[in-house]
Amino acid sequence: MIVYLNGEFLPLSEAKVSVLDRGFIFGDGVYEVIPVFGRRLFRIEEHLERLENSLKAIKLENPLSHQEWIDTLEKLIAHNQGDDQAIYLQVTRGPAKRDHNFPENVVPTVFIKSDPIETPPPVIGMKAITCADIRWQFCDIKSIALLANILLRRQAVEVGAYEAILIRDGYVMEGAASNVFIVVDGVAITPPKSQFILPGITRDLILEVMQAAQLPCREADISEAQLHSADEIWVTSSTREIVPIIMLDNKPVGKGEIGPVWAQVIKLYQENKQKLRSNA
Ligand code: PDD
Repeated sequence: MIVYLNGEFLPLSEAKVSVLDRGFIFGDGVYEVIPVFGRRLFRIEEHLERLENSLKAIKLENPLSHQEWIDTLEKLIAHNQGDDQAIYLQVTRGPAKRDHNFPENVVPTVFIKSDPIETPPPVIGMKAITCADIRWQFCDIKSIALLANILLRRQAVEVGAYEAILIRDGYVMEGAASNVFIVVDGVAITPPKSQFILPGITRDLILEVMQAAQLPCREADISEAQLHSADEIWVTSSTREIVPIIMLDNKPVGKGEIGPVWAQVIKLYQENKQKLRSNA
């Protein structure tokens, strides 16, 4: 695998970062995960805009221009195997003497890798659990400091579930690494954007394709009670796409099987991907 590190393309085994890097010491950095279909970047403008927002929020100047990002990502795709790939990029504040305050004249570290994309899970419907949202107040920043998310996902996996759905003050926020939709009487609902959720690119795309197809959907608060009585629940992300949840806290969601609205929306989503592939 060829990766990109600070201006160079090199084999993964040769990519080395200082142990004093603030990403390693403090989790002081941000990241993006960008799918690639047919060697084309999916929703790249949206991903780069979110990266820009994350960098601004942590007061770190974007080390690359918009065009430099595109050129670098395209070169990395060409260096790697597979028409469908998943790019992981991270920008940290860089190596410096350990000090909570930002160091002077530090050079950010830019690391990018691209793996062959993992096929989304077979569509059999998955289990989820609800958990108290123990994270901080800036969940809209795509921070590399993910300890709370990791512990929450682990909590789910330990009881045989796929995702933890996070509840704050009685309302659904998102999953440990996904956004959440519910379906009530045929209407898809997802929580509005706020500082407590990541503005997911997949989430926005789902709203866009549903609106274009005149399928009812809206952004609204979802209480824990509404979650438990929903007809359908989906969790969404760039790498896992739209995953139907058929069991929540060991109780069936709706009829306990994959729902009809999910089936319509996954079709629209796949068509959108296919469009990118065939726009050669
Ligand atoms: N995570 N919310 C959280 C907390 C996430 O970590 C993610 C994605 C999402 C969905 O965002 P998007 O549709 O833009 O992927 C929502 C990525 C995939 C990850 O950490 O690997």
